[in-house]
Amino acid sequence: MSNTPVKVAVTGAAGQIGYSLLFRIASGALLGPDTPVELRLLEITPALKSLEGVVMELQDSAFPTLAGIEIGDDPNVIFNGANVALLVGARPRTKGMERGDLLEANGAIFTVQGKALNDHAADDIRITVTGNPANTNALIAKSNAPDIPAERFSALTRLDHNRALAQLANKTGVHVTDLKKLTIWGNHSATQYPDIFHAEVAGKNAAEVVNDQDWLENDFIPTVQKRGAAIIEARGASSAASAAAATIDHTRDWLRGSADGDWLSMAVVSDGSYGVPEGLISSFPVTTKDGDWEIVQGLEVNDFSRARIDASTAELGEEREAVKALKLLG
Ligand code: NAD
Ligand code: LMR
Repeated sequence: MSNTPVKVAVTGAAGQIGYSLLFRIASGALLGPDTPVELRLLEITPALKSLEGVVMELQDSAFPTLAGIEIGDDPNVIFNGANVALLVGARPRTKGMERGDLLEANGAIFTVQGKALNDHAADDIRITVTGNPANTNALIAKSNAPDIPAERFSALTRLDHNRALAQLANKTGVHVTDLKKLTIWGNHSATQYPDIFHAEVAGKNAAEVVNDQDWLENDFIPTVQKRGAAIIEARGASSAASAAAATIDHTRDWLRGSADGDWLSMAVVSDGSYGVPEGLISSFPVTTKDGDWEIVQGLEVNDFSRARIDASTAELGEEREAVKALKLLG
């Protein structure tokens, strides 16, 4: 085991997602069994007592890879020296809300945290935003952190990707591990576009294997788009354990690399690829290696996909205008 712990900051650490996420990070699921981890946990002041209870449970788990824990309510302290930051802390939506309704309530959190990351994080910082509306919160954090390279910011669409894998596996009667090259495009919202036209089912083209346009349009796509709302309706609270698992998958694969012959969905800053306006944080098919990502290039986009990618990126453009008007962009 290397001796220097990797500092992983988690915000909203006393929340629902935090309660699942912290134990997975501490047990080595993020960085592997040979890398010690120091957890740096941020909460708002009234939640610190509850966080102390979570810390007791982390201690009681006696994880071999857990090297230390620091908690607090000041991002300038908690982000100090952080190598990885998982920005989860934000209000979740409740029944009947869209994620975009949270822009005003949650956006301000990400100006402060972007500045604090800019001033205090380690030079190799990698940032994953899970708190909603995740893409635009990542945009806010990025724009308030001018000294951090833009490609170090990402937002979570891996939960949508995993949801799409589960639906496609169920439809085609295979295990999720037989599926490759699925893509979530756009916003982590009801406009997101889960794309199976380049996906493979046991090596064969997924759209051809499925061969069911009605299922694609009226079942698969809306099910994935509205899965978050369906969970809120059923559980009375938004997804938490699956969101924590996806936050781990996303960040682990970013740091440790995507599998050969496959790709991931990550919301990252657009360079204009596939007609997505430059600067938006939008979900793309990406490959990763050693903490860097690259957008998969050269995919043919048919008219069906084009319309859906455009609709979701138009929504991201509107969110960018809304947070600009709220003076949240640095
Ligand atoms: P939660 O309400 O249980 O926990 C959120 C925590 O964040 C609370 O403990 C709160 O005190 C804390 N917090 C609020 N403001 C903070 C700040 N400024 N600094 C630090 N901590 C702060 O919510 P949850 O279920 O854990 O969800 C967290 C966020 O993740 C929500 O916005 C939710 O919508 C989002 N989410 C995203 C995805 C995704 O796929 N991107 C999936 C599920 C949930
Ligand atoms: C999800 O997709 O489950 C989360 O973004 C929570 C929500 O509001 O849908």
